Amino acid sequence: MKTVSVIKLAIILMMAVWLSGLVRASGPAENLSSFQIQTPRGISQDLWSYFIPSDNPMTAGKVELGRLLFFDVRLSADGTVSCASCHDPKRAFTDGRTVAEGVAGRRGARNSPTLLNAMFSNGQFWDGRAGSLEEQAKMPLTNADEMGNPSFEAVVSRLSSIPEYAKQFREVFGGPVTIGGFAKAVAAFERTLISGDSPVDRFVAGDINALSDSARNGLTLFRGKARCGVCHAFNQNFAAFATFPFFTDGNYRNTGVAANFGGFAELARKALAASRDESGNSILELARHERAGELGRFVISGNTLDIGAFRTPSLRNVALTAPYFHDGSAATLQDVVRFYVKGGKENLNRDWQLEPVPLDEAEQRDLIEFLKALTSDDTHRLTDLR
Ligand code: HEC
Ligand code: HEC
Repeated sequence: MKTVSVIKLAIILMMAVWLSGLVRASGPAENLSSFQIQTPRGISQDLWSYFIPSDNPMTAGKVELGRLLFFDVRLSADGTVSCASCHDPKRAFTDGRTVAEGVAGRRGARNSPTLLNAMFSNGQFWDGRAGSLEEQAKMPLTNADEMGNPSFEAVVSRLSSIPEYAKQFREVFGGPVTIGGFAKAVAAFERTLISGDSPVDRFVAGDINALSDSARNGLTLFRGKARCGVCHAFNQNFAAFATFPFFTDGNYRNTGVAANFGGFAELARKALAASRDESGNSILELARHERAGELGRFVISGNTLDIGAFRTPSLRNVALTAPYFHDGSAATLQDVVRFYVKGGKENLNRDWQLEPVPLDEAEQRDLIEFLKALTSDDTHRLTDLR
């Protein structure tokens, strides 16, 4: 009896799965030509698939729409700024500036991060305040220092008046231009911006000659004496360990970069006081402080351990994404390494894992050679996207 009902249940389940497939296939007028991608060496197909959300499946039409939107200056209030203005494929999707510059030359407070492999981050932005690429994509539109639109409605009505967009949204989403559709298309495009196959990936795959002696020594330092791997964690075996090949632990850490801001100590004291107010109102009030951004993750989490903490960034393609750190304060990789040799910058909340690392000049050079070997060959291919 029992076996029979188990079989019955299995059949019902199989029917349900089959039916849900049918429903999806006959659902909205999504462009159904399925999207194929060949992931580069070092990033497995499984890992990529794992990060595709079920409510925003990849289709070729959607990716193409997202690509058009990404490069379109008509997204901004005055028609001068596109996503690519700050995330330029020619600079590995960064802008080469200390901090970003948006409409009418208005400067933001943070350095533009690369979008290569951004799809694999658990939170978007230096402080992780957006939970997904979809959520993130809408935010630059109404940011006064970026695209400067008064509202999402303004963007939707502008895009709706462009016949090609009206047509493509209909084809891809089966309806008019919406902000949700915009976000989905841009996010789908961003999920094609994957980058691997660097000399380091080839070395890990067994090609001993892929790294110079200097870079190889740099790798040993990175994982050992220089302590970089503590936070910039690397593991390729996603299937076995659910760990990631991006040289980040995905955590938020205070290395002391925030203390470049002279008023940081005082801001941090205010944050500590605000965290004791259980209503959360004090934190909200503090978040309106002009330089509250330097509190980093704390503004999002309210956790005092997060005061001045920013996401450990991936180090892939780092040779192409200067200047460095959330405030763009390090002009070169040499500057970055010198910062770590001193153990970061002293402040009340500095990460307990950071300590001065005694690297001589030759060791610092080797470490930099290793960082340069994290540059992918496909990054150059991606510069032709436009
Ligand atoms: C004026 C420059 C500027 C424009 C325009 C701009 N961005 Fe950004 N972008 C930034 C900066 C600066 C950050 C980091 C901000 C922060 O962490 O607070 C960022 C962060 C991001 C992130 C998070 C990446 C990560 O690793 O955390 C994504 C994704 C992104 N932008 C996509 C886009 C898209 C899509 C558009 C167009 C709709 C766009 N950006 C327009 C400057 C810009
Ligand atoms: C305690 C954790 C930790 C350790 C140890 C650490 N990092 Fe970092 N790293 C971070 C965090 C967090 C940031 C972002 C800091 C910020 O901008 O506020 C960062 C930023 C960077 C950047 C800038 C990347 C960019 O896109 O702007 C580079 C390069 C870098 N680290 C290299 C290294 C090297 C090389 C070492 C070893 C000498 C090292 N890190 C050790 C946590 C760490």
